[in-house]
Amino acid sequence: RIEYRADSIMKLMTLEEKIGQLNLPGAGDFVTGQAQNSDIGGKVKQGLVGGLFNIKSVAKIKAMQKVAVEQSRLHIPLIFGMDVIHGYETTFPIPLALSSTWNLPMIEKTARIAAIEASADGICWTFSPMVDIARDPRWGRIAEGSGEDPYLGSLIAKAMVKGYQGDLSHNNNIMACVKHYALYGAAEAGRDYNTVDMSKRRMYEDYLPPYKAAIDAGCGSVMVSFNEIDGIPATGNKWLLTDVLRKQWGFKGFVVTDYTGISEMTAHGMGDLQTVSALALKAGVNMDMVSEGFLKTLKQSLREGKITQKEIDDACKSVLIAKLKLGLFEDPYKYCNENRAKTEIFTPENLNFARKTAAESFVLLKNQNNLLPLKKNGTIALIGPLANNRENMCGTWSVAADFSKPATLYETMKAAVGDKAKIVYAQGSNIFADEEMEKRVSVFGKTTNRDNRPAKEILDEALKVAAQADVIVAAVGESSEMSGECASRSDISIPDTQKELLRALAQTGKPVVLVLFTGRPLTLGWENENIPAILNVWFGGTMAADAISDVLFGDVNPSGKLTATFPRNVGQIPIYYAHKPTGRPEHEEDQFEKFRSVYLDVPNSPLYPFGYGLSYTSFDYSTPVLSSSKLHANGSITVSCQVTNTGKKDGAEVVQMYLHDLAGSVTRPVKELKGFEKIFLKAGETKTVSFIIKPQMLAFYRADMTFGTEPGEFEVYVGGNSRDVKKTMFSLEQ
Ligand code: IFM
Repeated sequence: RIEYRADSIMKLMTLEEKIGQLNLPGAGDFVTGQAQNSDIGGKVKQGLVGGLFNIKSVAKIKAMQKVAVEQSRLHIPLIFGMDVIHGYETTFPIPLALSSTWNLPMIEKTARIAAIEASADGICWTFSPMVDIARDPRWGRIAEGSGEDPYLGSLIAKAMVKGYQGDLSHNNNIMACVKHYALYGAAEAGRDYNTVDMSKRRMYEDYLPPYKAAIDAGCGSVMVSFNEIDGIPATGNKWLLTDVLRKQWGFKGFVVTDYTGISEMTAHGMGDLQTVSALALKAGVNMDMVSEGFLKTLKQSLREGKITQKEIDDACKSVLIAKLKLGLFEDPYKYCNENRAKTEIFTPENLNFARKTAAESFVLLKNQNNLLPLKKNGTIALIGPLANNRENMCGTWSVAADFSKPATLYETMKAAVGDKAKIVYAQGSNIFADEEMEKRVSVFGKTTNRDNRPAKEILDEALKVAAQADVIVAAVGESSEMSGECASRSDISIPDTQKELLRALAQTGKPVVLVLFTGRPLTLGWENENIPAILNVWFGGTMAADAISDVLFGDVNPSGKLTATFPRNVGQIPIYYAHKPTGRPEHEEDQFEKFRSVYLDVPNSPLYPFGYGLSYTSFDYSTPVLSSSKLHANGSITVSCQVTNTGKKDGAEVVQMYLHDLAGSVTRPVKELKGFEKIFLKAGETKTVSFIIKPQMLAFYRADMTFGTEPGEFEVYVGGNSRDVKKTMFSLEQ
């Protein structure tokens, strides 16, 4: 029926109006490319615009929608998109942090809340989930995804689509847009927008599954990535956008480019604007974000026979169908309800949930002699450029956030201890010594609170403050825009000026807790050697500071686990747990032996492995037990393990199950995550955790690229991270 309605609308449309539906100019304040659009209102009036994005507020959206439905010839409503990436005004932790919760219902609920708030403010389409697998922490956009693993990434993709979309009938559901299709996280050298070159096998096994999972969950739209794939930019890649997406996966929604994705194909070396616009349309792009290549050239390309009327019609129809699905033809103002905007955004319930989510996303990397949790007594020195900083709490891509809203850590720590303890504060250093670097990361209205006094003076002041304290909390790391789009780094350590501060604090001989702000895995070799406690708090969103206090003082026991490997140094990158074996593997863990696949100067193992994260309590795992050592083609077996909380505090643990196929027609990864369960154990409690293993979990792309299983021996590992696991074995029978 929707198809029929779209067809009948199209019967009334001129060619220009059809092409207009394919045009998505940028009208908001978030400019993330070289181009902007002009006379948007005029174009809306002429029916030359299909939608707008990153405009905030019911009033502004309503005004533009009014122009479209009252002043354009056919009154076709606009679709309003936004980068609602990790929350709307209530900002949740950055996606990499969210994934560290390993809590799928929690992640789904963050998307649900984001959808409710965004839809209350006029938005009906979000450019999320971002599901790009990333195994290179130099790439700043690793912050926006769920890390390195396709299995976990796929489950998160599905949870987010469900959370945003529901069934789209209600006015508090919004359409999701899975991005950036495809392989964007594999940019060479970790440099944003750079070339990707990858085998089909690796694409299908490791990088494509999360996009497919989002499509299978019913995701209404897809955003194309900036990179090339096998020599053709994704935006003009018919194999990617038509053969795989539509024909193999059965995608029925619409495809939008990224910001100036079409015009950028000229710089890629694919031809002039007319050529690349035709290429994009023919490949399967339906909507052109910002380039105006469709608007300016498709008519001429049609006249010259370079594209067909059907290609324009198909694209237009897919955009109209999305609008019909969202109910915009019935009520163009369905998402413009001032009352909802007043009552459903930034509510105390949403903020409470954001606080809980943030605390659950933190990863305790080290806790020597149980330095944490801190006691609420004595004097605590809080030192560092992120200790009293508000604007950097929300993290990258917080388009709708008000950066003045989050509390600072100094404020929440003072509130948490009341008059039981004294919190003394000093900034200690700037985020960077180099002012030029500060300018580069001071975007989207965020500043870094630069103190222009000489560095020595700022440090000396901090050391005086530290001298009064029993314990020092150092709040250091990245500023929020040091990760995210166009925030690649070739050195992923804590910036030098803050490292000097850390060294000086460590030299005081007082215990130091490092509260680490970061949007990516960092190299923390020195810190791991010299600082007794490290709590990685990522960028936790609006309630970050409250949540950090909750964890520092032990009101919440940390349970986050890394979803991206932390390397020892940048030379180890790309580094990920599910690597392939080599013919000359490292002899024994961390043991150098000549003529093996090792480095002269560093072990192969990472500093902190995938799945790693400590707790204020400890967990013990029994050796896993199988229900049978033989798995038959149509059967299943169960692997069970007893997990005991051996410490003194209640706590949550992510129990992880990995499989390893010992021999196949192609080489198989040394370990692959195939199941996990987050359990809560009271101090002293034991629970049995079981995972069902079915043959389809052992399937892979075989030598001939067919997907299926091969009989043979398998190792199954269960543990609290990808390194510290216990093993048993089974065989898959013919
Ligand atoms: O959604 C984003 C994308 O992730 C990066 N380029 C701009 C788009 C729209 O803001």
